[in-house]
Amino acid sequence: MSILITGAAGFIGFHLSNYLTKKNIKKIIAVDNFNPYYDIKLKKNRKIHLDKNINFIKLDLKNSKKLKILFKKHRFKKVIHLAAQPGVRYSLINPKAYFDNNLLAFYNLIEASRQFKVKHFIYASSSSVYGNTKKYPLKENFNTNKPISFYATTKKCNELIADSYHLNFNLNCTGLRFFTVYGPYGRPDMSAYKFVNNILKNKKINVFNKGSHSRDFTYIDDVVNAIYKIIKSKKNNNHEIYNIGSGNPISLKTYINEIEKYLGKKSKKKFDKLQKGDVLKTFSDITKIKKEYNFKPKIKLKVGLKDYIKWFKSFYKIDSK
Ligand SMILES: NC(=O)c1ccc[n+]([C@@H]2O[C@H](COP(=O)([O-])OP(=O)(O)OC[C@H]3O[C@@H](n4cnc5c(N)ncnc54)[C@H](O)[C@@H]3O)[C@@H](O)[C@H]2O)c1
Repeated sequence: MSILITGAAGFIGFHLSNYLTKKNIKKIIAVDNFNPYYDIKLKKNRKIHLDKNINFIKLDLKNSKKLKILFKKHRFKKVIHLAAQPGVRYSLINPKAYFDNNLLAFYNLIEASRQFKVKHFIYASSSSVYGNTKKYPLKENFNTNKPISFYATTKKCNELIADSYHLNFNLNCTGLRFFTVYGPYGRPDMSAYKFVNNILKNKKINVFNKGSHSRDFTYIDDVVNAIYKIIKSKKNNNHEIYNIGSGNPISLKTYINEIEKYLGKKSKKKFDKLQKGDVLKTFSDITKIKKEYNFKPKIKLKVGLKDYIKWFKSFYKIDSK
């Protein structure tokens, strides 16, 4: 069975590719275009640390011709689409990057999956589709018609496109609404990196909304384990959407305290207002994935942060002092 993983030089795609190889899933074709949204060196380093049995190909999903050639050659049974332009705030600055990489590239990939009769198309959505819903925890069947950033809008569109490919062309699809994923090799545009980096370098950290919004932080190992369970399943002919979260919201204040504890160092804070496009709170209801796939998030924030900080210090060769 050959599997395509997109965004394999990215944070989640890198971990997933290696996890599946460890689980003895062979014939993984991994693609990425190394876009320069954040430090290419980190992406290149992830690529170097991909298991040697993974067939990595540099490819831009916007190029439908090359994509077709790839599908023709490999006849994928499953496609796991993680490549995207991520980030809520950057979508206010450069919406075109989101149109190109989250809509056009998504279309090219799902269309190739239809044409080449892929058995299961799994794709990344996001908790941001919930917008500023007032009810918690967030359930998959809540109304998601009011995304508050262009990033979230593109993710909501992905869900709708997948729905019509399922209804009209019988493509078996699964959408994954990830909740703030963190861990080793994490993205430098995310809070874990920014806080740890600035505290270690004695720089101020930006604390938005006085630190009183909260996030459902989800450790990378739990995320890839959830995807693995979905890939292994024999369920067919569906389009289902699942929250992939820890089910445990943590306030930004508590989160910063935990980081300070592991760094043994206090932060210098610069308070700012809630950023445009940012939601106040994310808190996942994970009953559906628990029930249908027996998924249980295992890694508590304290353990996950400790692991992240350990990796950070060794990767960036930074000392605590
Ligand atoms: N990390 C999170 O907390 C989080 C939360 C919600 C949703 N998501 C979604 O999960 C997926 C993976 O996120 P991530 O954190 O690993 O992001 P990431 O940016 O680290 O990885 C995405 C990768 O996709 C590649 N890519 C982008 N456009 C491409 C294109 N046109 N062709 C080929 N490759 C392309 C990038 O170079 C990058 O390496 C994304 O779809 C993201 O929107 C992530």
